[in-house]
Amino acid sequence: MTNRLCFVVGARPNFMKAAPVYQALENLVSGIDLLLVHTGQHYDDEMSTVFVQDLGLPEPDVFLGVGAGTHGEQTAKALVRVEQVLLEHHPELVVVAGDVNSTLAAALAAAKLQIPVAHIESGLRSFDETMPEESNRRLTDHLSRILFAHSKGAVENLAREGIPRSRVHLVGNTMIDSVFRHRAPALTREPWSRFGLEPERFALVTLHRPALVDDLDLFRRTVEALLDVGARLPVVFPVHPRTRPQFSASGFDPQRLRDQGLVVCSPLSYLDFLALEAKAAFVLTDSGGIQEETSALGVRCFTLRDTTERPVTVELGTNTILGLDPDRIRSIPQMTEAAPPHKQIPLWDGQAGPRAAQVIADFLVAEALHDRRPTPSAGRRAAMN
Ligand code: UD1
Repeated sequence: MTNRLCFVVGARPNFMKAAPVYQALENLVSGIDLLLVHTGQHYDDEMSTVFVQDLGLPEPDVFLGVGAGTHGEQTAKALVRVEQVLLEHHPELVVVAGDVNSTLAAALAAAKLQIPVAHIESGLRSFDETMPEESNRRLTDHLSRILFAHSKGAVENLAREGIPRSRVHLVGNTMIDSVFRHRAPALTREPWSRFGLEPERFALVTLHRPALVDDLDLFRRTVEALLDVGARLPVVFPVHPRTRPQFSASGFDPQRLRDQGLVVCSPLSYLDFLALEAKAAFVLTDSGGIQEETSALGVRCFTLRDTTERPVTVELGTNTILGLDPDRIRSIPQMTEAAPPHKQIPLWDGQAGPRAAQVIADFLVAEALHDRRPTPSAGRRAAMN
């Protein structure tokens, strides 16, 4: 019998977390039938297609075209469309990753149909209820049967919320598998030369969170501080679609900024971004995943937020929480004078995908055995049907 599993991805940060598990399952379980569903939350080539290609994932089997909208609209559209796919294909397990709206929608669709859910990157908590991702994280975890945690802190968060320990598997960080696998080929692309830059002689910036970029005053002050840094060290800023219109709205012309040391460009492919990250003098971000990737790469990261759901990157990695205070950007150059304090984070070793795949394979075997047993609950289910 072939096992049919459904992976649901939807937004840029999902692809690099899901790919290592998808690929490890293909290697581990012969004849496994993997259905790759893309909700289309992110739809531009540069936010989506190029990531699928760079990570060696196949073309999605199903594309749901959810697109942009309010949080409610986007989540609801994904919920309805994923449910239709699940009703048609009857997978034995649905695998989701991260904390975006598509993650919650897919987990909810599956749970309502009593299809078990595996959640990659469980247990992260910022304890900041204003972040849309925080409710996605909590709810997805509570809907999941298999929870893959990447750190001890994540396991502790889940225990505190009463999630049974037997569901939680500390497998490490699948996103870091992608970093280690693609780092060497990414570096051969030398993307910095396209901007006329030298390795380790530039800073890299990404900013897209609503709390920062939707506040025009905060955004303007941030760009002004980046220009001060740019006067000493060129700054590369690949711009997320949410952030793009904020430049003109706050009175900046991206073309002029380039002459002042701030290179504003379109979002980059996974490989080009990874190479820039690996060779940056430092990275400034409000992203979650980038705090992790820089920690694995040993590159200093400064996070322009008040909180992080990834405290292990501060404790053991290279991350510093600056706070949501643009003025602090100006002090980064002094802070980078010493080498970054950086230890290996346990289980962030490039083997998290195979460990997660083994848990899934064991789960499928246990479910198959369970289904063959005439238990009272199976009998009740049959009677209900
Ligand atoms: C989403 C995730 C966030 C993640 C981020 C990474 C949620 C709640 N948020 O935020 O956790 O860090 O992705 O990128 O799921 N847009 C395009 N083209 C695209 C995608 C989006 O133009 O391919 C535009 C949309 O029209 C929208 C804006 O970008 O106006 C924001 O997109 P959306 O998917 O709503 O949220 P993100 O800010 O990308």
